[in-house]
Amino acid sequence: MNVDEFLQPELVKLLALGAAELHADYHGINARLYDSVQGGDRDVEYYLRTIGDRPASVLELGSGTGRVTIPLAEAGHTVYALDNSPDMHDILRGKVPAHLRDRIVQVEADMRDFCLDMAFNFVLLGLNTVFSLVDHESRRDCFHSVSRHLKPEGRFILYFMYPSPELVSNKDGMYDLSVYQESQDGGHAVVTYSRYEAARRLSILNFLTLEIADGRLCRAFVTPALEYYPPVDEIRLLIQEAGMEVLETLSDYDGTPFSDSGEGGDVIMVARPRSPD
Ligand SMILES: C[S@@+](CC[C@H](N)C(=O)[O-])C[C@H]1O[C@@H](n2cnc3c(N)ncnc32)[C@H](O)[C@@H]1O
Repeated sequence: MNVDEFLQPELVKLLALGAAELHADYHGINARLYDSVQGGDRDVEYYLRTIGDRPASVLELGSGTGRVTIPLAEAGHTVYALDNSPDMHDILRGKVPAHLRDRIVQVEADMRDFCLDMAFNFVLLGLNTVFSLVDHESRRDCFHSVSRHLKPEGRFILYFMYPSPELVSNKDGMYDLSVYQESQDGGHAVVTYSRYEAARRLSILNFLTLEIADGRLCRAFVTPALEYYPPVDEIRLLIQEAGMEVLETLSDYDGTPFSDSGEGGDVIMVARPRSPD
């Protein structure tokens, strides 16, 4: 799927006028804003609890700016931070404190197909990162790559959200505005267009980001993005096809077992390599 085909015509016009720059999701302006936009760390507490106190090897797929990577390394684990965005890597590099440099290995690679020549105690695919794998083949290839990188006693942990009724009912598209004030007279305003296509379980997102400096609008950026909301059964099947088995499926980091309430919500899955019979 070509994400640029999902741009709103009005944003295409803005680009044609030369009034805005096209930046891919998680690149350029989107990488710079990522930490201001993300919030919460309940997943980090869960990973710390689940991985435990013994120093472990962890591969985080789609590691971004290190929201999860850095606390895991701080807890004594060795973390391979794999991401395909050089801009997210640059931000992470700038945040890693000197005492953690030998415990964080940054890998610029595509999570659909990677080869690190080592096996890990844990592979994490957190915070809806699976949404970026919009084609079936991408998900299949990613899960096979995960399977090749797990130790026999290793664990693969995924987190993604189930679509809420509000998200599903957004068939016609809507706009939303957020403003991030970063100084007295500077910051960013982000206009988000979103629409959900239920048949393809696809959320279509367009961001128009306006940079404000010295109290004036100075630059504009346009970003198209796609998010695929996978059904739990599809993920279970992909895990099995990749040679792993699901150990548990939860609705909450507190251990509540998963049940599809129809209201959307969290899905946490833990899998391990299938033992040879
Ligand atoms: C939602 S962010 C999660 C970042 C981080 N794990 C966190 O929890 O804050 C998704 C990340 O996945 C990365 N990503 C998306 N598609 C990817 C791919 N095919 N291969 C590697 N990284 C990818 C993006 O660059 C982005 O940094």
